[in-house]
Amino acid sequence: MTALRRASKFFLPFGIFILIFLLHTPGNSYASDIGNCLLCHKYAGMSRVDEEGKMRLFFVNESIFVNSVHSKVKCEGCHTDITEIPHKPAKKVDCLVECHIVEPSTEKKFSHKDVDTFLAKSVHGTTDASGKPKKYVEDMPMCKDCHDEPLYRPLSFFKKVRPGISDAALGRCRVCHKKEDFIYRFYNHVTTRLHKSRNPLNIAEVCARCHDDETIVARHGLSTKAVFSYSETFHGKAARFLDERIPDCLDCHVNKGESVHQMLSHKNVQASTHEYNRGKICSNIDCHPGASPKLATYGVHSEFSLEQSPAQYFFTAFFIILTGGTLLPLMVIILLDLIRRFFPNATIKGRK
Ligand code: HEC
Ligand code: HEC
Ligand code: HEC
Ligand code: HEC
Ligand code: HEC
Ligand code: HEC
Repeated sequence: MTALRRASKFFLPFGIFILIFLLHTPGNSYASDIGNCLLCHKYAGMSRVDEEGKMRLFFVNESIFVNSVHSKVKCEGCHTDITEIPHKPAKKVDCLVECHIVEPSTEKKFSHKDVDTFLAKSVHGTTDASGKPKKYVEDMPMCKDCHDEPLYRPLSFFKKVRPGISDAALGRCRVCHKKEDFIYRFYNHVTTRLHKSRNPLNIAEVCARCHDDETIVARHGLSTKAVFSYSETFHGKAARFLDERIPDCLDCHVNKGESVHQMLSHKNVQASTHEYNRGKICSNIDCHPGASPKLATYGVHSEFSLEQSPAQYFFTAFFIILTGGTLLPLMVIILLDLIRRFFPNATIKGRK
């Protein structure tokens, strides 16, 4: 590792020199890249080993960027501290900065500050009900903890127009609007919000980083490794087979019509998961319409461990033994029968 680090120190000024040279090549296809950032950052191998020995990638994939939700934001719109080229080491991006985009219904400058207001009021906020900082504040998720997941990057994949509804409807837009990129942009803007854009498994993976971390679970007094226990139940198993109809974390933990960022503790009476409100989640029109509130006593986070749920544990064990105990002898008998059929005259050595 030290050799690598030394090599990186040696080659860095050299690399920057070549890149500065490249700045003089005219022409850049990408319109909102005003600072010509991609001139350097479009090179796939652009990376180095940092002081801690970690590999850092500085390559920005243009086609992913152009198809992402942020495609209309200039690079400097987020990397606000980069004002000259060649530039100094960049500061961390603040997701709450106002950008040059205007929200059309109010004509105010757009920012994600509203999301932060929701997050602050939720169980993931950094202060408790009385406004005091929580213990272990560093465990609380910030925007980039959930959104810088690699899963969240290639949004272009999810933003493709969906089969079924799309082609016929797009044809209708074309009757009046003539520019394809206008039609696609606004059609996608609305329709992707009418559907889930991630399957239940993807959502669970985002939460697993903390909710399956034993240290975090223990020091915040949570009673279960929530993603693991979800995956033990029928819901989680179906999610693993990529069933999209199955409830994901958000379907149960977000109150209908509210921001996904406003999740509450199940001890809060306003939470959808509070024992008074749980029945309504199950009888949701998409899930178990007509279910009695009793269904909500089903342990959606059961770990099937001897201490937590002995009844389920023995039930599961019974069925595993029953299935194994029936199938295994049956398979042995079939195998022996097959051998006799294929080798009717075979004998074991030494026997007559
Ligand atoms: C002359 C070529 C060049 C141009 C043009 C350029 N960069 Fe860079 N950039 C680099 C190099 C080289 C590095 C790697 C520096 C290092 O090794 O730490 C880098 C690193 C970065 C980083 C990594 C953060 C860090 O720790 O420094 C960010 C963010 C960044 N550039 C953003 C931008 C933005 C935004 C623009 C356009 C306004 C831009 N760059 C234009 C060469 C360039
Ligand atoms: C919507 C905001 C946004 C836009 C627009 C944006 N970036 Fe970034 N960029 C980020 C965030 C967030 C990170 C993660 C590091 C951080 O928190 O600062 C990042 C990281 C980077 C890195 C460093 C990766 C690393 O490992 O340190 C480079 C290089 C970079 N961006 C270049 C660009 C270039 C070039 C453009 C324009 C084509 C651009 N960015 C547009 C938000 C943005
Ligand atoms: C606990 C994890 C978590 C944190 C922290 C978080 N988000 Fe989100 N965010 C999500 C999830 C999950 C979704 C919904 C994704 C989906 O529906 O596919 C989402 C959706 C969004 C959306 C899209 C809304 C829509 O309907 O299209 C935006 C914008 C957003 N988040 C911004 C932010 C910002 C800004 C922050 C920081 C203030 C933040 N998020 C913090 C998990 C998080
Ligand atoms: C019958 C003709 C017609 C059809 C079909 C049509 N539009 Fe429009 N659209 C218009 C007109 C006219 C306006 C301007 C209306 C106004 O400003 O009140 C408009 C405005 C818009 C705007 C707002 C633009 C702005 O800057 O304010 C969007 C977005 C839009 N249409 C998207 C679509 C999409 C997507 C479809 C297809 C699903 C579609 N339209 C179908 C005629 C149509
Ligand atoms: C960066 C770590 C982190 C991530 C990522 C994260 N959480 Fe959390 N979550 C926490 C911590 C810490 C708490 C405990 C808060 C407290 O002590 O007040 C918590 C609490 C919760 C609670 C309340 C538990 C209760 O008492 O009923 C729910 C529900 C929850 N998270 C859901 C989610 C979901 C769903 C996701 C994924 C979209 C997610 N979290 C992602 C750290 C995280
Ligand atoms: C079918 C609905 C449902 C789904 C799906 C679901 N939860 Fe829960 N969750 C609940 C209910 C109800 C509670 C209340 C306590 C209990 O019954 O275990 C809860 C409790 C929790 C708790 C607090 C545990 C404690 O007792 O301290 C966390 C954390 C949590 N869920 C996170 C998640 C995460 C992360 C996911 C996705 C992997 C998820 N939940 C999926 C309904 C659900």
